[in-house]
Amino acid sequence: MMQLYFAPMEGVTGYIYRNAHYQFFGGIDKYYMPFVSPSPHRHFTPRQLRDIAPAQNVAVPALPQLMTKNAEDFIWAANELEQMGYREVNLNLGCPSGTVVSKGKGAGFLADPEGLDRFFEKVFSSVRVPISVKTRVGIHKVSEFSRLMLVYNRYPIAELTIHPRLQKDFYKGAVRKHVFVDAFAQSKNPICYNGDLVTEADITQLANEFPTVGSVMLGRGLIADPSLAARAQGKPAADRNTLYAFHKSIYEQYTEAFGNKRNAMLRMKEIWFYHINLFDNNEKYGKNLRKTSDPRDFEAAMAAIYQDLPLRENAVPGWFRPAEDI
Ligand SMILES: Cc1cc2nc3c(=O)[nH]c(=O)nc-3n(C[C@H](O)[C@H](O)[C@H](O)COP(=O)(O)O)c2cc1C
Repeated sequence: MMQLYFAPMEGVTGYIYRNAHYQFFGGIDKYYMPFVSPSPHRHFTPRQLRDIAPAQNVAVPALPQLMTKNAEDFIWAANELEQMGYREVNLNLGCPSGTVVSKGKGAGFLADPEGLDRFFEKVFSSVRVPISVKTRVGIHKVSEFSRLMLVYNRYPIAELTIHPRLQKDFYKGAVRKHVFVDAFAQSKNPICYNGDLVTEADITQLANEFPTVGSVMLGRGLIADPSLAARAQGKPAADRNTLYAFHKSIYEQYTEAFGNKRNAMLRMKEIWFYHINLFDNNEKYGKNLRKTSDPRDFEAAMAAIYQDLPLRENAVPGWFRPAEDI
């Protein structure tokens, strides 16, 4: 069986979500933490430490992700994370956000293959901890990827996760599967597939298509249906009571962590943006939940969904929002 990874999702898969998910559903071999940007000041901020501190992650196989184009900052942070006990550090070369890309970070780094080569040269000669990479296939054109692949192939990347979209695609449109096919054939490093796997059948089909792919990473589909990975391993689908208990537990922990229900509710709405797609006839209930501004109304809207709406066998992806929203 392929390994199943939980994709990093800023604003969604923080330590509270990861711990609760692992406890309630499992089925995940590795949880990738949302990115941390190391600063030149040589310390992690209290906010960053809230998520990456080993104490928050003892019970879960979670791994940190860094986003920077500065080799010295990366080396410092990776060594620090190794000291904390992490056995792998991931580099983010996929974030498509305008503010990130304009600084040449995330997917923006893909515009500079020579710079990326120099970055890896320094990093791989100075760190001991295994480095994995999560990448898109280019900025504007898929033809950019062959040059990037030559760079990746020069280094012992522990695992290269490919999300076969361009930076300009953001999270929309069909994945560019043919680029993944070529990349998989050319890579000297182990490959992980990521993108738009939403049903058990999607996962099985990918495994059949690429029998030697060692792992897949699941993001939005797994937020929509938190038992997706467990189901892919032959376990039963979660029932509505378990789903409700899971999300209630997260809501309570958010309330405790943020000190108020309002912020907890706003965070929960990020989850519901995906999770609502696991229910039939969700339009009216979903709209009602979205427009609540009082936490008590939100709690009632959440309870009503679990009480009234039929669960789908698989989520139907309804989360394609305009690029400027992400
Ligand atoms: C709200 C949101 C936040 C994300 N945050 C991160 C992140 O911090 N690091 C990262 O590498 N990818 C991030 N991603 C990308 C996901 O990890 C994943 O590559 C993408 O959603 C495609 O996979 P999926 O179709 O299975 O969701 C984010 C995506 C979304 C929608």
